[in-house]
Amino acid sequence: MATEQNNINLKPYNSFGVSQIAERLVEFTSYDDLHAALTADPTILAGSWRVLGGGNNTLFISDYHGTLIHPVSKGITVSAERGDDVVIRVEAGEEWDDVVAWAVSHGLWGIENLSLIPGQAGAAPVQNIGAYGTEVKDTIESVEMLCTATLNRLVLGGEYCSFGYRESIFKQSLAGKVIITAINLRLSRKPAPRLDYGALRAEVEKLGEPSLENIRQAVIAIRESKLPDPKVLGNGGSFFKNPIVEPEVAKKLLATYPDMPHYPAEGDKTKLSSGWLIEQAGWKGKRVGNVGVHDRQALVLVNHGGATGGEVIEFAQQIVAEVEQKFGVTIVPEINIVG
Ligand code: EPU
Repeated sequence: MATEQNNINLKPYNSFGVSQIAERLVEFTSYDDLHAALTADPTILAGSWRVLGGGNNTLFISDYHGTLIHPVSKGITVSAERGDDVVIRVEAGEEWDDVVAWAVSHGLWGIENLSLIPGQAGAAPVQNIGAYGTEVKDTIESVEMLCTATLNRLVLGGEYCSFGYRESIFKQSLAGKVIITAINLRLSRKPAPRLDYGALRAEVEKLGEPSLENIRQAVIAIRESKLPDPKVLGNGGSFFKNPIVEPEVAKKLLATYPDMPHYPAEGDKTKLSSGWLIEQAGWKGKRVGNVGVHDRQALVLVNHGGATGGEVIEFAQQIVAEVEQKFGVTIVPEINIVG
């Protein structure tokens, strides 16, 4: 049954560890449970509301005057098998990394490169999580949701989710209109290792053959060496997106900085590395009060303890301004800023 709490401190509900208060938090254990709660109590959706997944990609900059809807639904089942393809249905409240561990232990390929990404499964399609040359969009068969206007169940095929780099329809036209309740992932029994990103191949080779288990362990080792554990040091993963720039902008910058990391992006555009830009602007490891830039990955802002969302934003704005001044490139947050 859905549970409700009032005036709760969000500290345990956001990986940045900021202490804002939410007026109301409603937790649901299944689609039916959510549907019943919304039908019984129309006030839940009457005022401001938003879905809060694992709180790994959310920065609260003030108290939240409204209702946060939080999935705690669990379950991973096989929903279809077609030749080598196996579709699994995952409840929105599952921890994403438990889903990856489940797929790896069942010999299913497709999401092993996405090991150890913090957050809930229901949030994975929203920002199209990605790492080490893989994005979740490549495996999304469909997304199940509740339409808040009609209280009907909707199922949207992956091809209709307008996925892009850290983008989807759920951040655009469906934002604030649906509540994701489950995702269906199309995985494969056929081995398909993807080892071309950065140091992944070398890390896998240290462990042996490119098996599912070895790829998962290699990704975990790389992530643990670079990214701070939110349980130890509050953070929301990459704070900024990597900027995608016009070819002439990239060309001009490369003439001055020939070693600048750059990758082909959509059309003839070029994706730059925010981590590199921030490091070159002199911010890596820098700390102002309770907020800092992580010393091993400049794309990650950290809460050294007691930081407010407002302090984080102010700090982030200084970084944006200096990167803009030095490189003429505007970096934008990847994280959802709420308040
Ligand atoms: N770099 C620096 N300094 C830094 C950080 C990075 O020079 O402080 C350089 C690296 O040397 C490398 C390049 O930037 O040449 C790319 O770095 P990295 O492979 O660490 O990846 P990233 O582009 O910084 C993205 C994702 C991460 C994901 C990694 C690995 C975004 C916003 N971030 O980071 O995702 O884990 O690739 O695939 O796209 C997240 O979204 O929260 C996240 C952690």
